[in-house]
Amino acid sequence: MLRKIPTTAVPLSIFEILKGFKSFFGNKSYIEEFEQNFAKYMGAGHAFSFNKCTTSIYIFLKALKKFSNRKEVVIPAYTVPTLVLPIRKAGLIPILCESSLETLTMDFNRLPDVVNDNTLCVLPIYHFGFPYEIDSLLRLAKEKGFFVLEDTAQAPGAMIDDKKVGTLGDAGCFSLCRGKNFSTFNGGMLTTNSDKLAKIIGEERDLLPEQEFSFKIKIPFILTAYSLVTRPVIYGPFYKLIAPFKHTTVHDGFEPKQYSDFQAIIGSGLLKRLDGFNEIRLRKGMVLYDALTDNEHIILPQIAKNSTPVFNHFPVVFKETRTMEKVQAELWERGIDTGRMYLKPVHHLYDLGYDKQKELFPNALYIAERLLTLPSHPYLDDNSIEKIIGVFKSL
Ligand SMILES: Cc1ncc(COP(=O)(O)O)c(C=O)c1O
Repeated sequence: MLRKIPTTAVPLSIFEILKGFKSFFGNKSYIEEFEQNFAKYMGAGHAFSFNKCTTSIYIFLKALKKFSNRKEVVIPAYTVPTLVLPIRKAGLIPILCESSLETLTMDFNRLPDVVNDNTLCVLPIYHFGFPYEIDSLLRLAKEKGFFVLEDTAQAPGAMIDDKKVGTLGDAGCFSLCRGKNFSTFNGGMLTTNSDKLAKIIGEERDLLPEQEFSFKIKIPFILTAYSLVTRPVIYGPFYKLIAPFKHTTVHDGFEPKQYSDFQAIIGSGLLKRLDGFNEIRLRKGMVLYDALTDNEHIILPQIAKNSTPVFNHFPVVFKETRTMEKVQAELWERGIDTGRMYLKPVHHLYDLGYDKQKELFPNALYIAERLLTLPSHPYLDDNSIEKIIGVFKSL
């Protein structure tokens, strides 16, 4: 079959990309305009842009060091492994908290085991675009005196109790990299309501180098290629050429930089369409959720009460890896690509000083070994949704 549904996609038109060329003329700061638009969309006091979400985390942690000498930063044991890098770059220590099989993110009930007088910050992460209530975490933060950075990389626009996640803690970070609900190929945002933190973050951001000239020249072409290759009619026939760019390796560093004006123009345009994209993702995600929820072979994450998920991906945890492999192969045959996300928990990829003889985070390992993500983006058509449901029904 030629046509194939990719694992992730953002419908970005060539016309939208052409608008970016405005940035090559005049002195207007499109970055500043995008930051204002983003802050307004999120309902946050301040928003700052960066070349990556990773950079935004690094700058936030650096800013916190002006307020506290504490050294530990807590993340879930199953998450994007490169979160270790900004923590270490800021001279801090990553600490893992066990993951929950019910939410596929940090198990907040296990947090009291890992926070102490040296905890500087905790990062709740809304994996796959599922928002969760963080009141108990915010209460614990107040009691123990640590900061909360909501990692909303995968959940921009997701709501809980009518509030956007990413604005509930001290700050929120967002990624605009490939595979997110709205993407400018790369990029990251940081929002905060704290004027004190914003002042330091702004100063630190202004000290970062700008994107290189060669990047500014290349980005229109990169975005055009990105817009084209994620379309099912191109993704299928050219899969062999695209596949090497799909898999990300485990990095050992990153270069903090500013965002670019070209991307900021695209970002402002996509931001206006984000609610529309999220509505489509929610609709398609819920059709899949309702159809798969009682399947005895799998576990789906809980949808929190009064929440609006934005289905960055549709995550399925299989009780047996054999079943996962079978489903992956059958969906591929039917023209639907799937993803495996993080194949190992964080402490299996980076040496964080945890005992290697004993598995300290069995839930994180369970998720890493058995998780398959299904597409839930706007290019997923109803016919493909039916095919997905059919494959699961036949198990
Ligand atoms: C939850 C989460 N946090 C942080 C990041 C890092 O984002 P970036 O690649 O923009 O640095 C990602 C990216 O995949 C992510 O999914």
